[in-house]
Amino acid sequence: MTLTITPSGQACGARVTGVDLTRPLDPGTVAEIRSAWLDHHVLAFPNQKMNDDDLERFTFSFGGFGDDPFIRPIPGREHIIAVKRGAHETAPIFAENWHSDWSFQARPPAGTCLFSITIPAVGGNTEFSNQHAALDAMPVDLRARVEGLQAIHSARAGYAPQGMYGAKDKNRSMDIRSGDEALETQLHPFIRAHPETGRLGLFGCAGYIIGFEGLDDDEALPLLYELIHWQGREEFRYTHVWEPDMLVMWDNRSVLHRATGGYDGHDRLLHRTTIAAWDG
Ligand code: SIN
Repeated sequence: MTLTITPSGQACGARVTGVDLTRPLDPGTVAEIRSAWLDHHVLAFPNQKMNDDDLERFTFSFGGFGDDPFIRPIPGREHIIAVKRGAHETAPIFAENWHSDWSFQARPPAGTCLFSITIPAVGGNTEFSNQHAALDAMPVDLRARVEGLQAIHSARAGYAPQGMYGAKDKNRSMDIRSGDEALETQLHPFIRAHPETGRLGLFGCAGYIIGFEGLDDDEALPLLYELIHWQGREEFRYTHVWEPDMLVMWDNRSVLHRATGGYDGHDRLLHRTTIAAWDG
């Protein structure tokens, strides 16, 4: 199979054609896709008439399934969640703040696959921000302040009972289950080497990061605020515009991402899997 990889021309992202993801992939093709993924961080495969078996098989080829807490899988599938919003839903958009998926876990997922089923005629783009580029361009004084810091990650702001998706979250079609386990914390270096490429980048951001080890909140919270403005700057971004039947896979170790709205009055439905942490 000959893959054609067309870079987005933005800070990351590429479109990949010349492969049929409804069929099992041979090891050579998996290796080629993996290499493009590590180079571009976000890959979009248009015109793939995939079903849930295909999505699971594809995910499995890239390292097995991650562990997806807080969101109930779709009926009959252990590893697929539905990212959905009804035309007349009024709850805040799911995942509208920058994040790296499940960064509060001890071994966060290497990647995420998202397959589009129903795509609104307007809006609903997904934005990505390249965190290697964000580190490379970081002002020297800001970098000096974060060098060596261990970030404290937690799901509490989103998934604790008092969190955004907790008891007060009403009228949402996604099946989100908040819980006290969201109060747990996990340390990860804020500047860290990508486990596969060794390239340095920033890992995670305000939201799942709730502080830094050794800094009190008076220092940590303004720093997180300053950082998120830096990390999400326009020049580090790729804006992904969805088409129906499109698979996107992104590298949670290299990019932040966020959902966007702008599609009130339209349904939106995608199926999502996560790719387990890489074991080398
Ligand atoms: C997600 O963060 O998984 C959802 C992204 C989106 O809905 O665009």
